Amino acid sequence: MKALILSGGRGTRLRPLTYTTAKQLLPVANKPILFFVIDQVVEAGIEDIGIIICPETGESVKAAVGDGSRWGVKITYILQDKPAGLAHAVRTARDFLGDERFVMFLGDNLIQGGVTGLVEEFKKNGGEATILLKEVPDPRQFGVAVLDEENRVVRLIEKPKEPPSNLALVGVYLFSGCIHEAISRINPSWRGELEITDAIQELLNMGARVDARILEGWWLDTGKKDDILEANRVVLDEFASRRIEGEVCPESQVNGRAEVAKSARVIRSIIRGPVVIGEGVTIEDCFIGPFTAIGDRSELRNVTIEHSVVLEDCRLYDVGRIEDSLIGRNVKVSRANDGRQALRLFLGDDSQLAV
Ligand code: DAU
Repeated sequence: MKALILSGGRGTRLRPLTYTTAKQLLPVANKPILFFVIDQVVEAGIEDIGIIICPETGESVKAAVGDGSRWGVKITYILQDKPAGLAHAVRTARDFLGDERFVMFLGDNLIQGGVTGLVEEFKKNGGEATILLKEVPDPRQFGVAVLDEENRVVRLIEKPKEPPSNLALVGVYLFSGCIHEAISRINPSWRGELEITDAIQELLNMGARVDARILEGWWLDTGKKDDILEANRVVLDEFASRRIEGEVCPESQVNGRAEVAKSARVIRSIIRGPVVIGEGVTIEDCFIGPFTAIGDRSELRNVTIEHSVVLEDCRLYDVGRIEDSLIGRNVKVSRANDGRQALRLFLGDDSQLAV
């Protein structure tokens, strides 16, 4: 079986970070979201993986992921010229997929427990598709499914204004080669995209069997800043361990599940896990609170920070308390010691600042 991972799209809700990086490469617990997805696909025994990329961020995805040797698998990159929808991405990957059964995984979705069980079951069960669903409080921002009494899918609708159920489509789908015929029969939706939800509905119209599984564990769709912070919290909570490879001075305290990578230095500071601190980071006179990830080579002096994600090569000096923040690469935030009560800003387009 093959896998198709979608790592194209625009990522507009994560600007300005997505001007320079693919949203699927944003890290939680210091690891790109896309790497968690690849880990889960590989864990399910799949060795032939296609990754959809787009012209704007494709090169950064290729540079980060490489040829797959890091996972011992083969990776083929497939360029989608425009973000014309999930079904358009499958159509673009037609030559790679052939007529085989495959799993499709959205590169910005994280799910608890992986896909091994789903993949094993789909290899044997003879259906044309299996979708994964999760009960959510507000289904309007997702694809939504209606099931019958025997849990068979009867109807699907993308981002309905009045949702017919609270079962959202999670970004993991299993398909047989029949999906290609269904995609050839659909038209773009009101938002101008070829929707995979419509293609699955078309499979149903064609009389195909579509099964559904309900995901019991957590599901994170990392489309916005707060979703990334929540994903960072959940992933740190589940996976962080205590591993101190860097230097911690005797005047510092490192409590709980904290990872301090090699060549990082912790000086006169308190670190309260779950926390990850990347390679070459300097933490001096700081409090690093729970659910925080600090990217490689960043330097923090005289800062209190909690529930935040800081990417690589940042400088945060003397700025008091930072909470619920997502800070991109190479950002500098410092206090000016000239006595003036003014903010002096140099922010990129689409930045957000709460003072
Ligand atoms: O996250 C689950 C939801 O994903 C489902 O409930 C919806 O039914 C499904 O349509 C999809 O909705 P979104 O509107 O959230 O999808 P988004 O545009 O965020 O794209 C999902 C991923 O696929 C993202 O990593 C970008 C990538 N993508 C997206 C498009 C539209 C592509 O690679 N190519 C594309 O053309």
